Amino acid sequence: MINKILLLALAIHNTCLAQDTSSVSNTDSAFTATASATRTSSTPQVPTGTPVAGDYGGRYRPQVHFSVPRYFMNDPNGMFLDDNGTWHLYYQYNPTAAVAGNQHWGHATSTDLYHWVNQPIALFPPADDTFVFSGSAVVDVNNTSGFFPNQTNGVVAIYTLAQYPDGNPGPQTQAIAYSFDNGYTFIPYEGNPVIPSESSQFRDPKVIWYEDHWVMVIAYAQDFAIGIFTSPNLIDWTPQSNFSHHGLLGLQYECPNLVRMPHVDQNGDRQDDVWLMYISINPGAPLGGSIGEYFPGTFNGTHFEAFDAAARIADFGKDNYAGQFFYGVPDDEYPVFMAWASNWQYTQVVPTAEEGWRSAMSLPRRTYLTEVERLGWKLVSEPYDLEPVLGETIASNDSLANGTMAIDYSEVASNALYWEVNVTGIPDSGVPATATLNFTFLSPQTGESVSSGYYFGGDTPFFVDRSGARGFSNVFFTDKFSTNSLRDGSTWSVSGVIDRSILEVFVDGGVESATNTFFTTQPLTLMVLSTADFPGDMAASVRVVALESAWAEMEDEDGIVYGNVTDTGSMRVRDMFGRV
Ligand SMILES: *[C@@H]1O[C@H](CO)[C@@H](O)[C@H](O)[C@H]1NC(C)=O
Ligand SMILES: *[C@@H]1O[C@H](CO)[C@@H](O)[C@H](O)[C@H]1NC(C)=O
Ligand SMILES: *[C@@H]1O[C@H](CO)[C@@H](O)[C@H](O)[C@H]1NC(C)=O
Ligand SMILES: *[C@@H]1O[C@H](CO)[C@@H](O)[C@H](O)[C@H]1NC(C)=O
Ligand SMILES: *[C@@H]1O[C@H](CO)[C@@H](O)[C@H](O)[C@H]1NC(C)=O
Ligand SMILES: *[C@@H]1O[C@H](CO)[C@@H](O)[C@H](O)[C@H]1NC(C)=O
Ligand SMILES: *[C@@H]1O[C@H](CO)[C@@H](O)[C@H](O)[C@H]1NC(C)=O
Ligand SMILES: *[C@@H]1O[C@H](CO)[C@@H](O)[C@H](O)[C@H]1NC(C)=O
Ligand SMILES: *[C@@H]1O[C@H](CO)[C@@H](O)[C@H](O)[C@H]1NC(C)=O
Ligand SMILES: *[C@@H]1O[C@H](CO)[C@@H](O)[C@H](O)[C@H]1NC(C)=O
Ligand SMILES: *[C@@H]1O[C@H](CO)[C@@H](O)[C@H](O)[C@H]1NC(C)=O
Repeated sequence: MINKILLLALAIHNTCLAQDTSSVSNTDSAFTATASATRTSSTPQVPTGTPVAGDYGGRYRPQVHFSVPRYFMNDPNGMFLDDNGTWHLYYQYNPTAAVAGNQHWGHATSTDLYHWVNQPIALFPPADDTFVFSGSAVVDVNNTSGFFPNQTNGVVAIYTLAQYPDGNPGPQTQAIAYSFDNGYTFIPYEGNPVIPSESSQFRDPKVIWYEDHWVMVIAYAQDFAIGIFTSPNLIDWTPQSNFSHHGLLGLQYECPNLVRMPHVDQNGDRQDDVWLMYISINPGAPLGGSIGEYFPGTFNGTHFEAFDAAARIADFGKDNYAGQFFYGVPDDEYPVFMAWASNWQYTQVVPTAEEGWRSAMSLPRRTYLTEVERLGWKLVSEPYDLEPVLGETIASNDSLANGTMAIDYSEVASNALYWEVNVTGIPDSGVPATATLNFTFLSPQTGESVSSGYYFGGDTPFFVDRSGARGFSNVFFTDKFSTNSLRDGSTWSVSGVIDRSILEVFVDGGVESATNTFFTTQPLTLMVLSTADFPGDMAASVRVVALESAWAEMEDEDGIVYGNVTDTGSMRVRDMFGRV
């Protein structure tokens, strides 16, 4: 959670917020949420015990990505896989305005990471001037905390309480709350905070289990230090070491993760796991605003050491921040990661507020470390099994060379596609600089486009260009991104998902990836895939698949997604469409 933005939001007050978010009519109570227990709130607008309803039909609404039902979301929080196979996603949530502020923990669950069920808000601010910032969750299978005398699936959330006395940044302390019901409802621990502090720059605890103790990584944001704490019981924490001043600094470190990572070598064989430190920096990323960087290394229970001195950026796009790894994924499986698909430089002014919401998460990603030519360590990420949302194959060609495919997908109800391209027969040398493969998504009505492509010759650059989308203009909404995709051997691949206002591309099996939002005035409905000047036997095998909307099936008859409404007796607040 970024401090500065929240402070700004607090300072400019509600009138400005209302102006900024024309569709959000009532922001009076934006910063007056009060609640002493997690299931109560004196803010009439903030529903307790029932989810916030949302309209997922808007032109910008992603159909296979998680997005917030209404108002504003940022960092993913508390992500864990429960003992029943349900994935829990919590998120920084302002339930009263489509800008940051009034931070709660929203909640959604899924059994496949694509079909999400919106759940009631999980954590509420404990006082008028105290907000619930980012954090994590674990399953205390052994009752180390003592909260769970009768169960092995008790959940503990660990999070930052950020105080704003008189609207000014005050102490950020670390608190815990426990849940007997698999993370649907939480009880704040009476002894909070578990880590006191006077610092206003100390936040985002992420906890894992290491052999025989709990380990927390946490950001001393403006000291550019990641603190490593240990605990036997999630309550008593001991500072052990700091990982300080590594990589790019930006102006703050936030949202650290320490995660065990499979190491898959260049032959595809799994070697001994290594450790990964993942740090989000904002503001001050090289491309502007927010980004994630990572450090492969060793961890011995108290100290992390990076293998080398390199800073490695996780995503070459501009909308991938505050990523977190799910707790509870078995060690023999690949860690699963999701990030906030936005950037603090413009997240509070993007046009999705016309539809009543701001922010989506990235696709869920399977991740592992490998080594690549020249660069060495590389974090690979690929979409988590898309099967649950794959529809019909709408176009394919197993040998496209010097040709173009134009694919009209205006009949695809979700307006979302998955595609993959495998290129084979790439010669070792003599590839002309003009040997290229591009894919462009167009609106035939307006000529708007987003495009991407690869040069097989020269220093092998890959680009993504969102400059052809005309629905949003902002000086920080930079529009062209590129990386260089080195090849090893005669093959190369690219795949991606386009989902109304998000484009994610995975280059060469996910060795490089980019997450970018885009905003057009009309839907993009035509995909043009073109190749040129492929030498010799070089050819592309292409498949384009329609995606099925994960949200359409969650809609009620009135087109609104109400989520898990179990508590019918409780207050069901009016949604933004005046429906109850
Ligand atoms: C776990 O799943 C089973 C079977 O779907 C269900 O009966 C049970 O209520 C679930 N338990 C929890 C705690 O959600
Ligand atoms: C739970 O206890 C078992 C047996 O001592 C141990 O192997 C395991 O690491 C512990 N796990 C957690 C999360 O406490
Ligand atoms: C869990 O911890 C509490 C408090 O220490 C204790 O009373 C209870 O017996 C424990 N339960 C189990 C199953 O260990
Ligand atoms: C655990 O079970 C005991 C015995 O049934 C009961 O008295 C106690 O209230 C339970 N504790 C919790 C936290 O549910
Ligand atoms: C880590 O860095 C913070 C901030 O500079 C400092 O307050 C703390 O004492 C350090 N902790 C350790 C274990 O060195
Ligand atoms: C972990 O590494 C640190 C730094 O090298 C060292 O001081 C500490 O003793 C190590 N701990 C264990 C359990 O090996
Ligand atoms: C595949 O593309 C090539 C052009 O490279 C074209 O000649 C061929 O007809 C296409 N095949 C199919 C099945 O469309
Ligand atoms: C791909 O796009 C690049 C950049 O606009 C262009 O130079 C190249 O000719 C295009 N290639 C094809 C096959 O359309
Ligand atoms: C593709 O174009 C290149 C030159 O531009 C040519 O050498 C090659 O033979 C062409 N490939 C096919 C399959 O037509
Ligand atoms: C691309 O290669 C992958 C991995 O071998 C394979 O699973 C996939 O079906 C291929 N796709 C196409 C369109 O050839
Ligand atoms: C709805 O919430 C209850 C807890 O309040 C939970 O047990 C149940 O599994 C949830 N159902 C769905 C479909 O998410």
